[in-house]
Amino acid sequence: MKLKDVAALLNSSGIDEPQKEAEALLSLLLKVDRTAIYLNDPYIADEVILPLIRSRQRRQPLAYIVGEVEFYGLRITVGTGVLIPRPETELLVVEAIRALSARPQPTLRVLDLCTGSGCIALSIARAYPHSHVIAIDASEAALDYARVNSTINNIHNVEFLQGDLFAPIRDRLTVPLLTFTGGFSLIISNPPYIKSPDIDGLQPEIRLYEPPEALDGGTDGLTFYRRILAAAGDYLSTDGLIMLEIGDDQATDITDIASATNFKSVIIKKDYAQRERFAIIQR
Ligand SMILES: C[S@@+](CC[C@H](N)C(=O)[O-])C[C@H]1O[C@@H](n2cnc3c(N)ncnc32)[C@H](O)[C@@H]1O
Repeated sequence: MKLKDVAALLNSSGIDEPQKEAEALLSLLLKVDRTAIYLNDPYIADEVILPLIRSRQRRQPLAYIVGEVEFYGLRITVGTGVLIPRPETELLVVEAIRALSARPQPTLRVLDLCTGSGCIALSIARAYPHSHVIAIDASEAALDYARVNSTINNIHNVEFLQGDLFAPIRDRLTVPLLTFTGGFSLIISNPPYIKSPDIDGLQPEIRLYEPPEALDGGTDGLTFYRRILAAAGDYLSTDGLIMLEIGDDQATDITDIASATNFKSVIIKKDYAQRERFAIIQR
């Protein structure tokens, strides 16, 4: 079977970008880049490619089949049990790095809540090699990926902790990287924010394969924002920032929650599609 045959099969199964996905599958199996596939138009045996095509026909996400994605220049391994980092989350990282560079500090402490694959924590830690980053997730499976991602990208200034939001640092005041004098310069999070009733309507790649606990933000999608903002003041430095990825219909609610939890400044940023997707919050 050749590239065009793989693309045709994917297309007939209703896959959105069949050509791009066919290229990705061939380059994975042949361990060559996409240019080489176009130059050589290689043949690949049916018994090698068909199991992968069948996985895609069952709507297993391409990223899980390939086993990794690129995120902000990092290799991020993914698979069952961890959310696939989304390109728009790179914009949250860009905003965070920009904000931190505008306010240089002798000790930079960053807390990434709901870290998943570690993509946000690792990107910031690499940009600021002398920072201390603590990354927390409730899921041990996700943290296994995050730790692998830390190793393969040779980033060693992130400490990964398992638990419910702030609990691991609340309960373990002995966390080596953290002395609470001063608090965190940045608390950043891309928490679960899909409304529970909306989960059934998501595309099958997400609904059937990505971990539900990475998606479900409670009945109104806001549970995690309420919990994070209610507690963040105890862990944030005086002039620290909170940066959150939000759903594109949540800006007003987030602004209200921030004000109810005594944060006076909320700046909402848009993504490339001009949707309101990020909140930068301060005292
Ligand atoms: C939307 S995913 C974000 C993952 C990653 N930060 C990213 O941007 O790709 C949300 C993450 O929150 C984690 N999570 C869910 N409930 C949590 C809780 N109570 N405390 C900490 N993490 C939680 C999930 O395991 C999942 O990894």
